[in-house]
Amino acid sequence: MIQPHGGRLVNRTITEDQLPRNATVLNLNEREKNDLEMIGCGAMSPLEGFMVSADYSSVVDRMRLADGIVWSLPVVFSKKAGDPEVSVGDEVVLNYNGVLRGTMKVEDIFQADLMHEARETLLTDDENHPGVQYLKSISGTYIGGKISAIDMRDHEPFREHRLIPEETRALFEEKGWKSIVAFQTRNPIHRAHEYLQKVSLEMVDGLLVHPLVGATKADDIPADVRMKCYETILEKYYPADRTALSVFPAAMRYAGPREAIFHALIRKNYGCTHFIVGRDHAGVGDYYGTYDAQIIFESFKPEEIDIIPLKFEHAFYCNVCGGMATARTCPHTGADRVFLSGKKVRAMLNDGILPPPEFTRPEIAQILMEAASK
Ligand code: ADX
Repeated sequence: MIQPHGGRLVNRTITEDQLPRNATVLNLNEREKNDLEMIGCGAMSPLEGFMVSADYSSVVDRMRLADGIVWSLPVVFSKKAGDPEVSVGDEVVLNYNGVLRGTMKVEDIFQADLMHEARETLLTDDENHPGVQYLKSISGTYIGGKISAIDMRDHEPFREHRLIPEETRALFEEKGWKSIVAFQTRNPIHRAHEYLQKVSLEMVDGLLVHPLVGATKADDIPADVRMKCYETILEKYYPADRTALSVFPAAMRYAGPREAIFHALIRKNYGCTHFIVGRDHAGVGDYYGTYDAQIIFESFKPEEIDIIPLKFEHAFYCNVCGGMATARTCPHTGADRVFLSGKKVRAMLNDGILPPPEFTRPEIAQILMEAASK
């Protein structure tokens, strides 16, 4: 079994009765709630809490934690307007929408330059970028420290698919899979996704379809609709003994290349040995080059990342080949190739047009159409 990032799977879960009484309460936003869940269950190993300034600055400026371990995106807690003042050394309780979810031992309170963070991590400070919009919505004061988190999964959606790293690792062992490829997605599975996954499955023992279900931007297809799509397509088109579906409870950052590294490292914690990186992974708009999220892996020694990126070119359906292909395998050009993106499909659905089978399986088109017409 592949080692977790940093060598040890973190476990920082507590039960409700272990929450300190009468402690100061601070509020989490949705992304921070997602991060708390991820840190608590070890998905973000070796992180044990929200970053202190030494780790934060090091991650922003050189993609490493202060101790040198590769980590590409900040995982931080922002002070909210109206929240009580806290001091270093306090143990605070973390609240989300009226429910107490964990604690943080305050180790550091620091002022961040959020637009510097944006330029380094998102490669832009353009306010049209959803990640920049997020940064503009929070205060520049971060509070760092080790957390503990209550396992809230019984109160979250998709409970049966909400496996923590310990459980996916146990599942892979039980299935006898030695090599496992993870697939990150924030979209319904379309034919290009399926192609990437199945080409990978020709080489590895198992596939973990690992859709992101944390916070996304408003025009992304909601997670409940996507989950219906994933369950349907897996049942009909995937080998049950070589495929698993579990959710990835992180928020989307739309950070392109840096998020590809972040996504890969976290999937290693879930026990995966390989990670699919296709075109414009975790991208949005035109902020990143088509293959920048693949090229960034070359900035690190393979053993520093350990999980192996499986890099794919832009896949499409070729009418002449009569199947899915990429420029690496198909000699045809222009109109022979059906290029469709999630964005184009959303536009078609909004216009009441069913996406063609060259782009998406009919069962999935149907689910998407029903959801769009609601
Ligand atoms: S992402 O934000 O989660 O990356 P999406 O769900 O669209 O968005 O993509 C999931 C994965 O499939 C990513 O690795 C992405 O690069 C890849 N991908 C999506 N569409 C294509 C395509 N047509 N060709 C090659 N790779 C693709």
